[in-house]
Amino acid sequence: MSLNLFSPAKLGSINLSNRIVMAPLTRNRAGEAGVPQSINVTYYEQRATAGLIITEATPISEMAHGYPLLPGIYTDAQVAGWKKITDAVHAKGGKIVIQLWHVGRISHPSLLPNNALPVAPSAIKPAGQAFTYQGLVDYVEPRALDASELPEIVADYVHATKCALAAGFDGVEIHAANGYLLDQFLRDDSNKRTDNYGGSYENRARFLMEVTEAVVAVAGADKVGARLSPVNPFNDMKDSNPQALFNYVTEALSRFNLAYLHVVEGGIHGGGESEPFDFSAMRKLFKGGYIANLAYDKARGNTAIASGHADAIAYGVPFIANPDLVERYSVDAPLNEADSSSFYGGSEKGYTDYPFLGA
Ligand code: PHB
Repeated sequence: MSLNLFSPAKLGSINLSNRIVMAPLTRNRAGEAGVPQSINVTYYEQRATAGLIITEATPISEMAHGYPLLPGIYTDAQVAGWKKITDAVHAKGGKIVIQLWHVGRISHPSLLPNNALPVAPSAIKPAGQAFTYQGLVDYVEPRALDASELPEIVADYVHATKCALAAGFDGVEIHAANGYLLDQFLRDDSNKRTDNYGGSYENRARFLMEVTEAVVAVAGADKVGARLSPVNPFNDMKDSNPQALFNYVTEALSRFNLAYLHVVEGGIHGGGESEPFDFSAMRKLFKGGYIANLAYDKARGNTAIASGHADAIAYGVPFIANPDLVERYSVDAPLNEADSSSFYGGSEKGYTDYPFLGA
């Protein structure tokens, strides 16, 4: 019998009871000082039947923030808050990794310590507006990082990884997608550097490789995944040759023997038509697990797994509205509709009150 969404899997050292992964989802409902609170415990616990939960993108430092009410993973109080979540998920037999995030230029001084300018590979203002506590505000021109500052950011990833392990996570996912800091280094529309971190594919990938090497040294490669989004235009991103760049990045990441590569196979947030791209080339170049993401449904997920395109499928919006998505898929039950007005911020409404089957 061929594999499908309900087949167990192993990604690095992480044993999944099925291949239905909960995608990282920004929900803006953390407590004070970025400490996860009890509604966050309930939310993740409700979704523990996923083969693997990837948490919402989580800032690794004060400078990594870019939206209101994000949980962090760099203080003792945050570790204690997350520990309640990992304990609750594990008690239900689930697995959970945390997505490590630095937003780079997708931020605003009002969200940063001492009204600091956001940082980026190059001083290029992205088109669009930041979500701040004061509402939507135009992005500002970020400050280009000096190469001498990069080791401090690598150290922040290391510290956050140690915090994640202390909080009981099964692993960490390095967020190098969707136009945030590491992706800003990768793609040449946001990286115009003339030093060792800009220009060639090798140079643009250097910072991601340094981060990966440092995170792997702390967590072990079999507990580390990475997320890429080669053609996602979200956050004003583009690259002159995404296939060549991301084939290079995939091969370079593959050498670390990571648990998995997680690929956003197109444009998010209604990013619409993205340019043609051969994702199967990345799948073939990567020797660890491959998690595919982007508007998959049950049928397409099963096909991708049966054909060998992916080892697991990450579902986003369906998991917002269906805490028991795995059961619903297994019995072909109808899905709850997601209410997009409660995606970002708010209370239990649209967060922990979606009904389970039979409720
Ligand atoms: C978002 O908040 O819209 C968001 C956050 C992280 C992502 C993508 C989108 O990777």
